[in-house]
Amino acid sequence: MTPGRVLLTQTQIRARVQQLGKSLTRHYRGKRPIFLGVMNGALFFLADLVRAIDLDETEISCVRLASYAGTNSTGKILGLDALDDSIAGRHVLIVDDILDTGRTLSALVARLKKLGAADVKICVLLQKRGKQEVPLHANWIGFKIPNHFVVGYGLDYDGRYRGLKQVRILTD
Ligand code: IMP
Ligand code: MG
Repeated sequence: MTPGRVLLTQTQIRARVQQLGKSLTRHYRGKRPIFLGVMNGALFFLADLVRAIDLDETEISCVRLASYAGTNSTGKILGLDALDDSIAGRHVLIVDDILDTGRTLSALVARLKKLGAADVKICVLLQKRGKQEVPLHANWIGFKIPNHFVVGYGLDYDGRYRGLKQVRILTD
């Protein structure tokens, strides 16, 4: 398995992140949000997004969740127990690389609400068309993409290819 066709160039990603940053700035002005990055996939997206917003009081936090082995979702979400009630009363923006089946993010939203978050919203770089198994609304979506396994700009295949500057389709 190797990275094949380029789906999104560095220029496209950069331009879209700036647009998302502007929209998030308008939405969160006057609030003190926590941007909660889902590691490791959201690493670059989170870092670029935070620098594309113009707010003085944004906090950054990370949670490390995993459900994938190879190109298959295992359905079991690991890592949610690392979150604690310091989230209570806060406006949380979940930042993730990709919304696929939706299982990871809906489990995370449920956990944050249980811990007493005042508001939970979702920003994903990518949403895969036709793959969602769990009803979940992402408030900000960078790009809707066809149902391919993609790598690069944080997205990996078993830990590989995260550092690619573009988003590329994984091929045999
Ligand atoms: P979900 O629970 O099925 O929505 O899975 C979401 C998580 O699986 C994402 O946060 C990614 O880490 C991973 N994932 C899903 N699709 C892809 C892909 O095409 N490439 C790399 N990682 C993916
Ligand atoms: Mg992920």
